[in-house]
Amino acid sequence: MIRYLTAGESHGEALIGIVEGVPAGVPLTAADIDEHLARRWLGFGRGGRARFEHDHVHIYSGVRFSKTMGSPIALRIDNAAYHRDRSGWPEVMAVEGTGEGVEPVTLPRPGHADLVGVQKYGFTDIRPVIERSSARETAMRVACCSVARQFLKHLGIEVGSHVVRIGEVGYERPEDWRERVETLLAGGAEALYRAADASEVRMLDPDLSARCIEHIRATKKAGDALGGIYEVVVTGVPPGLGSYVQWDRRLDGQLAQAILSIQAQKAVEVGDGVAAAYRPGSRVHDPIVLENGRLTRRSNHAGGVEGGVSNGMPVIVRGYMKPIPTLIKPLDTVDIATGTAQPTRYERSDVTSVPAASTVAEATVALVIANAVLEKYGGDSLEEIRARMA
Ligand SMILES: Cc1cc2nc3c(=O)[nH]c(=O)nc-3n(C[C@H](O)[C@H](O)[C@H](O)COP(=O)(O)O)c2cc1C
Repeated sequence: MIRYLTAGESHGEALIGIVEGVPAGVPLTAADIDEHLARRWLGFGRGGRARFEHDHVHIYSGVRFSKTMGSPIALRIDNAAYHRDRSGWPEVMAVEGTGEGVEPVTLPRPGHADLVGVQKYGFTDIRPVIERSSARETAMRVACCSVARQFLKHLGIEVGSHVVRIGEVGYERPEDWRERVETLLAGGAEALYRAADASEVRMLDPDLSARCIEHIRATKKAGDALGGIYEVVVTGVPPGLGSYVQWDRRLDGQLAQAILSIQAQKAVEVGDGVAAAYRPGSRVHDPIVLENGRLTRRSNHAGGVEGGVSNGMPVIVRGYMKPIPTLIKPLDTVDIATGTAQPTRYERSDVTSVPAASTVAEATVALVIANAVLEKYGGDSLEEIRARMA
């Protein structure tokens, strides 16, 4: 199975990742990973960091002549923020010394990890909490999971996503976007992500895109923030991934965990999800039909998973993101040093990160599917696994 660990602080020198369990023979270059790191910076409404942080991964091990070797893959992404002149981060984030003269952060932001972090780890300065709970960590997560994604790609399994809502602007029901998405999916899920990437908010409908941009502009002016909803789709998934025989082997459960493991994601739907709870069974369950000697479905309300097992239809998962907690408009808080009521202080931040979150979700979903493939078919090299899947 593929495992990964990330390390690094948001304004530390670099992010580090180790990916272990990747089969040998998977074609992989830094450019394959950089493509998805760049996509993570997409989206109207990003903060100032998006202007100067051009993520590039350095591969230190596990790859030779552009192919994985089956050994652990070590990755590094430098934080441009740390290296920028006059940024002061080398002093604030110094690995050694006493930190004398570095001003502590003492105003916890509601909705962020600030207060629970200091309570949990016993800090008097919120800085260490901010640095590791920050979604900057997802850059390395995307890098690690992009390795799994490359493995899937060479098995004909593709992952894509698009945004379906930002704040008050979006589609109302899955039916409203299904046809547009299905047309794109005929070419595989990569066609879906490429079409979404063409929009500044990763939305397929140009009219909704334009309205979302206005909505984000107005929200920024009001000093507020926005959440939203996105959909991740995986094509080429063979039937039989996951299992109903044990709770932790259910593919839908694993997908939900993958989405909720991302900062600020608060709900997940598989297939029709919440809408299915409101509808009669005859409008929810997908009729089974025999087409060219193959059992398939006339519709895909289940999102490609029944009984915790993939059924051969595209896997569909939606993630719901709350508005980010750093607002220009201050919220009430309490200074942890003095105990006095204070307004929160603004630090450079996004207005909405939903388009970015959708690309992170693609990556985390790819890892789940890659591991489900490895669990079912096993194998130590891409060729061996390919042969077993044929
Ligand atoms: C891609 C992405 C970008 C984010 N950017 C910001 C940001 O600029 N400012 C902020 O306060 N929170 C941002 N967040 C959300 C925080 O990281 C998150 O709310 C925080 O870690 C607390 O975790 P929780 O919301 O899951 O409770 C972002 C999240 C994601 C997924």
